[in-house]
Amino acid sequence: MPNPGLLVLFGSQTGTAQDVSERLGREARRRRLDCRVQALDSYPVVNLINEPLVIFVCATTGQGDPPDNMKSFWKFLFRKNLPLTSLCQMDFAVLGLGDSSYAKFNFVAKKLHRRLLQLGGSALLPVCLGDDQHELGPDAAVDPWLHELWEKVLRLYPILPGLDVIPPGVPLPSTFTLRFLQEAPTACSEEQHAATTDPANTPSELQPFLAPMVTNQRVTGPSHFQDVRLIEFDITGSRLSFSAGSVVLIQPENTDSHVRRFCEVLGLDPDQYFTLQAREPGVSCPVQLPQPCMLRHLVARYLDIASVPRRSFFELLACLSPHELEREKLQEFSSAQGQEDLHEYCNRPRRTILEVLCDFPHTAAAIPPDYLLDLIPRIRPRAFSIASSLLVHPSRLQILVAVVQYQTRLREPRRGLCSSWLASLDPGKGLVRVPLWVRPGGLTFPKTPDTPVIMVGPGTGVAPFRAAVQERVAQSMTGNILFFGCRWRDQDFYWEAEWRGLEERGCLVLITAFSREQEQKVYVQHRLRESGPLVWELLDRQGAFFYLAGNAKYMPTDVSEALTSIFQEEGGLSGPESAAYLARLQQMLRFQMETWA
Ligand code: 2AM
Repeated sequence: MPNPGLLVLFGSQTGTAQDVSERLGREARRRRLDCRVQALDSYPVVNLINEPLVIFVCATTGQGDPPDNMKSFWKFLFRKNLPLTSLCQMDFAVLGLGDSSYAKFNFVAKKLHRRLLQLGGSALLPVCLGDDQHELGPDAAVDPWLHELWEKVLRLYPILPGLDVIPPGVPLPSTFTLRFLQEAPTACSEEQHAATTDPANTPSELQPFLAPMVTNQRVTGPSHFQDVRLIEFDITGSRLSFSAGSVVLIQPENTDSHVRRFCEVLGLDPDQYFTLQAREPGVSCPVQLPQPCMLRHLVARYLDIASVPRRSFFELLACLSPHELEREKLQEFSSAQGQEDLHEYCNRPRRTILEVLCDFPHTAAAIPPDYLLDLIPRIRPRAFSIASSLLVHPSRLQILVAVVQYQTRLREPRRGLCSSWLASLDPGKGLVRVPLWVRPGGLTFPKTPDTPVIMVGPGTGVAPFRAAVQERVAQSMTGNILFFGCRWRDQDFYWEAEWRGLEERGCLVLITAFSREQEQKVYVQHRLRESGPLVWELLDRQGAFFYLAGNAKYMPTDVSEALTSIFQEEGGLSGPESAAYLARLQQMLRFQMETWA
């Protein structure tokens, strides 16, 4: 049978599913298979009926939801009127990526597999259940599954006689070529690039708005362990519009010192200009990059050198290394047997791509620039809940950002790329602009003016509720109940004065939990239980909506448990009945949550 062309479709939230998909693409090319790799929502789904061979790579996000870039596909696939023979030509396999500490482990992949079977597709393999909780990460499940997949695929579509599998030590051709210019272009291409963004369009990932930062203020007290910033942007003239629950996406940059160091170890001149060309027809250059582009721009704004490298990075680096000792080590890190060592070296201490390159200097100095975009992933935008309402702060957008910094066994503290970058910007020292755009968030609020809302937002989880309270009060909506938790009232009680003012006007009921002001920890869920009768009355009699936002670790489970125990105590429900009650609220969107790691 001729090579049918393999299609890899992914739904990725944090980039892992995309990374695995790209690995599939590379492995397919080594097996001489034509392969397209695409995000599910950028693929015209009606064409699926003509696809003979499709691998789906899907992450499951926190509460069993599909990632954002497959939401439209998901809706379409579960339409009731799809004929049950739609996919009878298709061989498929589903690779799931999830986290077994969540109840709905790999829910999306499992459900997708069942649905594809129902629509007539033939499964080549059972679903692969990649697990973030596994000591070796998802690869522990993915490696053996892929091995089996390729055996099946090659049996169906053998390599043509005279050709072989391209062995792992030989690099595949780079996706792009970089042509260096002898001289700097006369007009500054970056400015031109920014100018080509059409102000008539709503800002998006492809065309962010360069928003002036107007405030960057620490809002935690001096003795608080965490640096939390209230950051405000001026969005005048941007066509950006949002409402309570919306999210802003921010495209961060690498720090200057990292950019300099990277260019040093690779022996690159940051001031040099290049143009980028795709090797294959069908592949387009990243629109985020101006043409011509300065190397400094590529490194600062595009290459995620501060991220922890994935295994594919070591695979390619090993192929490119001219240095025997370094190559051996890199080969070991990219082999199946070396995964434990790689985990110890990279993932556990959160070692970055830049740090690894510094550890392999002979290899780094020999990396052909053509391979930079294959080797290093793109800097991904970061999402923040918007904390202000346009009804109260017109032309402004505010966020609350916890600056991520922690220590591992490495001497240098680990820093979150986006939060550290934002914190480092000082609008007092001149104009600073931040590329951003917005999208509707996971939280939606009732439109009816007298439907009460109960919001539970400890720490920075309160951000979306600040927007909601502002918006609702401005529209004279009543029944605003906010549970807020922090450590100490004088250190991390965000917007205290504003809440107090609203309380005095009778627009808000605020219930606080200061976890460290007494011997025993007091959390929002304890306050929720104490307010059991009120919560039950609002939910059961007044049709209230319930919201939860904040750290994903234990708080969502703890709060959900507090709720079900209220249903039992106040509503007289049994254990299973209270769980079903909560599930029903969730289905009706009267229980919603937005959590982050
Ligand atoms: P702690 O740091 O004193 O443990 C915002 O971070 C607030 O949320 C803090 O007061 C923090 O308390 C609290 N918090 C920590 N774990 C929590 C949990 N599982 N449920 C609810 N609140 C929690």
